[in-house]
Amino acid sequence: MIGIFDSGMGGLTVLSAIREVLPSSDVVYFGDTLNAPYGVRSREDLTKLTVEGLQLLQKRGANNIVSACNSVSASLAVSLFDALSLAPQQLIEMVGPTVAYFKGSAAPLVLCATPATIQSGIYQNAFRMIGRDVQGVAIEPLAGAIENGATAEEIEAIIAAAFKGTVLEPGSILILACTHYPIVISAFRKVLGSDVTIFDPAFAVAERAEKQFWPQEVGDGRTTFILSKDSEPFRALAAKLFPNTKFEVEVLQ
Ligand code: DGL
Repeated sequence: MIGIFDSGMGGLTVLSAIREVLPSSDVVYFGDTLNAPYGVRSREDLTKLTVEGLQLLQKRGANNIVSACNSVSASLAVSLFDALSLAPQQLIEMVGPTVAYFKGSAAPLVLCATPATIQSGIYQNAFRMIGRDVQGVAIEPLAGAIENGATAEEIEAIIAAAFKGTVLEPGSILILACTHYPIVISAFRKVLGSDVTIFDPAFAVAERAEKQFWPQEVGDGRTTFILSKDSEPFRALAAKLFPNTKFEVEVLQ
């Protein structure tokens, strides 16, 4: 079984891409809605919450894990391989597949993400390893606003404020390095205009999942969601993204 972990609904964008390539895999998804948003939390907090979240997924039968939260990748103070006794091929996180996708690209790159991700420098360092510089834009309130079901106008205002004063070179590619952001990709398009290409890393991560998890993850296509706190916006997005899937939602609290 594949376990997917995020602070809340952001990982649904990754699950949606994974479902395109691994439709018959069984998936257990944990959204830590009680503790979301993660992107404004300390490194110590995120380390503890992530280890606990991934242990829960393992207890529920996940052998292969997709850690669908960039803020988590950016902030871990321990090696997940050591903390969870995972082999490298059992864990996929967001940064590696995303950066690898841009090997050989010459386009100017802009990365927008939570403060935890931008401040950690994890993407900037990884891009430097493939000889690329990347401009970072942190958007502090956006993931929380999406998680809480903010209106389109509120979301657009947050994005516009974050990009105020940022000059995007012609031909830039904007990387949405927070799994919540593709949920509001149309707001990014509206605010930033059509000159900017927007990249959703979910597809690069799904490609990696297919390579690493197929064929051992052929199952019955079951989907179970576990939430640490019930969330109407989460349920609504899951129903919208997976209209033909029967899924269960278990709430821990
Ligand atoms: N979706 C997560 C990420 O990719 C976390 C967003 C948050 O909870 O702040 O960073």
